[in-house]
Parts: sequence; structure tokens; C-alpha cells
Amino acid sequence: MDVRDLHEQNRRGWNQGAEAYEADERARLEFLRSGGTNFCPPEFAYLEGLSEWCGRAVHLQCASGQDTLSLWNLGAREVVGVDISDRMVESGRRTAEALSAPATFYRCDVLDTPHELDGTADLVYTGRGALCWIMDIVAWAKVPARLLKPRGRLYIFEGHPYMNVWQLEPSSYVFDPVYGDYFNEKPISDAGWPTTYIGDLGMQAAQHEVKHERQWRIDQIVNACLDAGLVLTKMGEHPEPYWNQFPNIPAEELRRLPQTISLLFTKP
Ligand SMILES: C[S@@+](CC[C@H](N)C(=O)[O-])C[C@H]1O[C@@H](n2cnc3c(N)ncnc32)[C@H](O)[C@@H]1O
Repeated sequence: MDVRDLHEQNRRGWNQGAEAYEADERARLEFLRSGGTNFCPPEFAYLEGLSEWCGRAVHLQCASGQDTLSLWNLGAREVVGVDISDRMVESGRRTAEALSAPATFYRCDVLDTPHELDGTADLVYTGRGALCWIMDIVAWAKVPARLLKPRGRLYIFEGHPYMNVWQLEPSSYVFDPVYGDYFNEKPISDAGWPTTYIGDLGMQAAQHEVKHERQWRIDQIVNACLDAGLVLTKMGEHPEPYWNQFPNIPAEELRRLPQTISLLFTKP
């Protein structure tokens, strides 16, 4: 199956998952209205002084816009969200409208991000469970590279790829029988959602759309960005998780392995 077909199936899956995000829409609006920002502690160092250098921030795979609008609250003068899910984008638009935020949302495959945005972004932001849904990292890296202005920055804050290999439920690290190969090069197809994230949405397993994930290693992400013409400026490995991925592993043990990574690139 080709990349576009896999992405299209993921769109259907994320339209189901959007139900859980819609349930939080009112709380999200209040959080953002009170000036809240959704970032994890390690991210602030990479987004420092945003109001001084960021006119337009483009958020790729923006879901329902919480992080997108957090970038506005943090100082970006204008924000743009891009996501493949119809329901996610509609939710983001409703929230932005209620906030009178200078925000625009595009519903499209990230690979089809409109060319009218090329060369307009001071910041392209993405991550938090985004890249695993992209089936072609080389094609993907060309998108932030064309969106950025010269000297613009790409900031990726992602789950550390090394964390993909473990089962979610045990109380210590145990290799997952499906995801447990760091060097796996094939899409993994599955239906349903982790209990600590979106859950079963009150549906039988057979009613869930099949979705496709790809485990991208750090070297693959970095090389794709370098090949797209970006320069690696800074990177970090962090003990802080961005979601409750391993609810039964004690926090003290979780912190012994890197849960998240930061990759900051600049366009020459
Ligand atoms: C885990 S969310 C991203 C993280 C986000 N910060 C959040 O708040 O959840 C993944 C998002 O990627 C989107 N997505 C998946 N494949 C995509 C694609 N090919 N193009 C654009 N968006 C995509 C999904 O619709 C979903 O909203």
C-alpha cells in the first residue's frame, strides 16, 4: 500500500480519536483563555524569547490546536495549524475563534501543506506523537525546509524513539512483541488506542479503524532534515515524558531512560 493510502487510513482513525479531544474542548478553551501553555519543561529552553523572533509559527500535525494556540500564548504573533483529521481541525478552528486568536488551520496531509506558506515561517513546530504517523520521513523533512524563512527554526519535541520498543502496561521495561525492534523498517498496523490516552471510545475492537505507524530512529530523522538542507543547531535527550505512556512503571525508574528528545534545526 502506498504512503498516501496509509495516511488516508490514518485520517479515518484520527477522526475517531478526535472524539476524545472534543470531550476536552471546553477545558482546553478555558486553559488557553487564562494564558496557559501546554509545553513540557524541556521545551521552554528551545522556545525561549519566542515573542522576539517569531512572527508566524506553523504547527505540523496540530491535532485540535492546543499546542498551536499555546505557541500564540507564548509569544508567536500568528499561528498556523496543519492536520489531516477533519474533526481535529474543526475543533481547533472553534477554539481559535472563541479566543479571537490570529490562527489559521489547514486540513490536509502534512506532505501536502499548501505552498502558499512556503518561506513564511519563523518557527515550524511538531512532535509529541507526530512523526510515527508519517510513512516517508524524507518527503516529510522537505516540508518544514520549504515552509521556513531563511534563519527560521524547526523544533521537534518527540517521544524518544527508544521508548517505542516497550510494552505499555507492565511495571518494568519489557520488550513489546510487535514494537520491540528499534531497527524495524516497516509500518506497523493496529487498531484502537492506549487506555491512558484515548481509550476504547466505547466501541468494540472491530469498530476501530486500522492505523499505521512507523518507528523513526533519531539518525533517520536527523539525516532526513540534513538532506533537506537544514542545519542541526542543538539537540537534547530528556527524562520528562510528554504523556502517561507507562502508567505502571515507577516515576523514579522511568527517569533512568530518556523519555523525550529535542531536535532544533535552522534553515541557512
Ligand atoms: C498525537 S497527535 C499530535 C500531537 C498533538 N500535539 C496532540 O496534542 O495530540 C497526532 C496528530 O497527527 C495527525 N496526523 C496523522 N497523520 C498525519 C498526516 N499524514 N498529515 C497531517 N496530520 C497527520 C493526526 O490527525 C493527529 O491529530
